[in-house]
Amino acid sequence: MKVGVPSEIKVDEYRVALTPAGVRELVDAGHEVCVQRGAGVGSAIADEQYEAQGARILPDGAAVFGEADMIVKVKEPQPTEVALLEPRHTLFTYLHLAADKGLTEGLMRCGATCIAYETVEDVRGRLPLLAPMSEVAGKIATQAGAFMLEKPLGGRGILLGGVPGVAAANVMVIGGGVVGMNAAMIAIGMQATVYVFDRNIDRLRELDNVFGGRADTCFASTLSVEERLPEMDLVIGAVLVHGAKAPHVIGRAQLSLMKRHAVLVDVSIDQGGCFETSRPTTHSDPTYEVDGVAHYCVANMPGAVPITSTYALTNATMPYVVQLANLGAARACEENPGLKMGVNVVGGKVTYEPVAQAVDVPYVPVDELLPVAAA
Ligand SMILES: NC(=O)c1ccc[n+]([C@@H]2O[C@H](COP(=O)([O-])OP(=O)(O)OC[C@H]3O[C@@H](n4cnc5c(N)ncnc54)[C@H](O)[C@@H]3O)[C@@H](O)[C@H]2O)c1
Repeated sequence: MKVGVPSEIKVDEYRVALTPAGVRELVDAGHEVCVQRGAGVGSAIADEQYEAQGARILPDGAAVFGEADMIVKVKEPQPTEVALLEPRHTLFTYLHLAADKGLTEGLMRCGATCIAYETVEDVRGRLPLLAPMSEVAGKIATQAGAFMLEKPLGGRGILLGGVPGVAAANVMVIGGGVVGMNAAMIAIGMQATVYVFDRNIDRLRELDNVFGGRADTCFASTLSVEERLPEMDLVIGAVLVHGAKAPHVIGRAQLSLMKRHAVLVDVSIDQGGCFETSRPTTHSDPTYEVDGVAHYCVANMPGAVPITSTYALTNATMPYVVQLANLGAARACEENPGLKMGVNVVGGKVTYEPVAQAVDVPYVPVDELLPVAAA
């Protein structure tokens, strides 16, 4: 198979979907790999490093889409990239379609087989291709929140860890999954007072063990969140309902309960945001204020640390890329039911039910389409 790696063109995105190690695995398995010139530069990977492992360097994205059968990316395709997709393509990347009806319709029109990293599951129903970026985003969430709390940046002017004789800041993490646990671990490490809220009691039990008493775990009822909110300096939103649009865990009316110049970090913004007042922001302009509360809602947080993120992501995606290249989408999904969970759009139909519901288009089970489309 011909595997293509275009440069990421979304604003402030410096990651790349394949490292030289990935090129080596694919070439050794008998595949051809083409990489867009400069695709790895943001992650400190030179074209020559790809070439040394057997990749061909092509001048632009159009050439990569034109040559390759499978396109491996990081972020969802931008409109100019959707225009280059054809029914013969398999697209493997983050898609986050539940929050983007326009992109879903674009991918339906292009006819390609579109597999979303974020809905691929492992044998235990976890999300192996979301997890590495969630680890990174969780750690950044606390760092960014601590920074935004500084007065010159518009925050309350409180140090997360306090000092002897002065109390630490209060941090609430809503959603104690991979993002939430990592955010809490950094907040604990910075010596803040930390509360982690989740609706899954088993998850709260696990977190209680992991934190060893250094953070409080709380059941995330609307009332319990609301009662704690007035004490908080930093609130990190990290909830996820698999494949679906994020539920709102803090509404606009509840902002009035918060301290003036407290900070909200909405990591769930890539699934539509878990605070009612959230809207996507970028690394170059990460925050805005609503009712006296700072909002940080960067949709591609791991993009800020591309050297860490590119390797963390590709360590997880590489086995799937090799499997897709070896077997083609239909057989790879037949052999790997977790990969099949990643198939969101095939031949113009949405094959992932929560996405179909969220964007209000008909749902067609993937088994009815994939062998036909990929044959
Ligand atoms: N902005 C970014 O750059 C970025 C990067 C990585 C991940 N994310 C996003 O972060 C979010 C969290 O990802 P994750 O990997 O931690 O997911 P996860 O599945 O590991 O954890 C989500 C947690 O939310 C909990 N939850 C669900 N509904 C809840 C509710 N109403 N109240 C409280 N808790 C609730 C679940 O029980 C689960 O423990 C996702 O939307 C993901 O797409 C964003």
